[in-house]
Amino acid sequence: MNNIYNVCQLKTVQTPYYLYDMFLLKSTLESAYNAARAHNFKIHYAVKANTESKILQEVNKHRFGVDCVSANEIKKAINHGFKAKDIVFAGVGKTDSEIAFALSQQIFCINCESIEELEVIATIAEKMRLKAPVALRVNPNIDAQTHQKISTGLEDNKFGMPLFELQQALDICCQNSYLQFKGLHFHIGSQIKSETPFINLCKKASEIWHKFGIESYGGSVLNLGGGLAVDYSDPFNKPVPEFEHFFGLISKHLHIPTNVKVFFELGRSLVAQSGTLVTKVLYVKKGLTKNFAIVDAGMTELLRPALYQAFHKIEKFNNNGGAIKNYDIVGPVCESSDVFAKNVALPEIRRGDILMVRSCGAYAQSMSLRYNLRSLAPAYYLHNNPVDALQDHVTTSFNTCPDYIFNFFSLQ
Ligand code: LLP
Repeated sequence: MNNIYNVCQLKTVQTPYYLYDMFLLKSTLESAYNAARAHNFKIHYAVKANTESKILQEVNKHRFGVDCVSANEIKKAINHGFKAKDIVFAGVGKTDSEIAFALSQQIFCINCESIEELEVIATIAEKMRLKAPVALRVNPNIDAQTHQKISTGLEDNKFGMPLFELQQALDICCQNSYLQFKGLHFHIGSQIKSETPFINLCKKASEIWHKFGIESYGGSVLNLGGGLAVDYSDPFNKPVPEFEHFFGLISKHLHIPTNVKVFFELGRSLVAQSGTLVTKVLYVKKGLTKNFAIVDAGMTELLRPALYQAFHKIEKFNNNGGAIKNYDIVGPVCESSDVFAKNVALPEIRRGDILMVRSCGAYAQSMSLRYNLRSLAPAYYLHNNPVDALQDHVTTSFNTCPDYIFNFFSLQ
């Protein structure tokens, strides 16, 4: 995979930029789709992970639905060819106009997170003389064993309704003729590496399904959300996550009637490894105790390290064999938290060198900021599968890279 990125380094392309490997994206989507289909599961891509048009187009080609968290995401999904019946709408704070918009589009369902929201949805539906399709998002109080800022399924997280409200919510759905109950929704967190939280989720969801007699209320859908992790430490070992294993695990631990439709809302696992943030070294500064490599991308292009102390593998393009040194890789933004990584061992870095920050396909470009009035970084897309011959060019610099190699790629 390295090779693809290496050969597309063009001096004329201004850094920083996001570079997407569309070939890897296609294989990932294909693998996820097939693995889900084998169990009759349906995936709704969590649009928030990456909202770029070309990514959405590719996801749509692979017959996924979408999970949106704002009216703008719904609009964008519809503009990119997703059918309203394949859209689910989540979010802890939907505005009235967003709810009205979602209803007007006749999306599959709104994942409702509280009794109050349910009543608001019903009132809006009544005004619009519509029946609002809703699923109830339950907070199952399950520890996703992930970073606390991306955990959503614990009692003290703001998401979902507490279990003690579910009966009341079901009764409201039943009694209010402007609501049409679709089923249950869960999402316990993101970047979940261990199997245990997913097993616990399956057990809890199955238990709730039976205990509350969800089908007797007309429920036919169980949405288990997203959360499947990717390997940030070693992104090229298995760049396509083990979807077969994941869905096999869910199948094994989920005990609900076979006619219930099971949905997932995967985001990160579908897109993360396909993206790289390409950045140039502006300055190398020797501190008292350490070396800083100051690069032209920062927390504005990749917020994850500053926000969640997230690790992203950083590599130097065109490794020209310099002595290995330790660097803090930092951005240009006026914030001390604008640090990509500390003490990274890399071949000696000089001004003008290119660094590649891996696993930036999810929650990088979609979380980009204009802080310091910085310009938004563009994206480029690699479309072709590199032929084997290119393997010889792992360390070829763009200065010496023969022109024909560039012909394999379309930089757009
Ligand atoms: N469904 C719901 C209701 C969600 O809130 C999310 C993510 C997903 C699905 C997709 O989860 P995934 O499969 O991508 O884990 N910015 C953070 C991640 C925030 C996730 C927010 N919700 C990060 O960079 O790690």
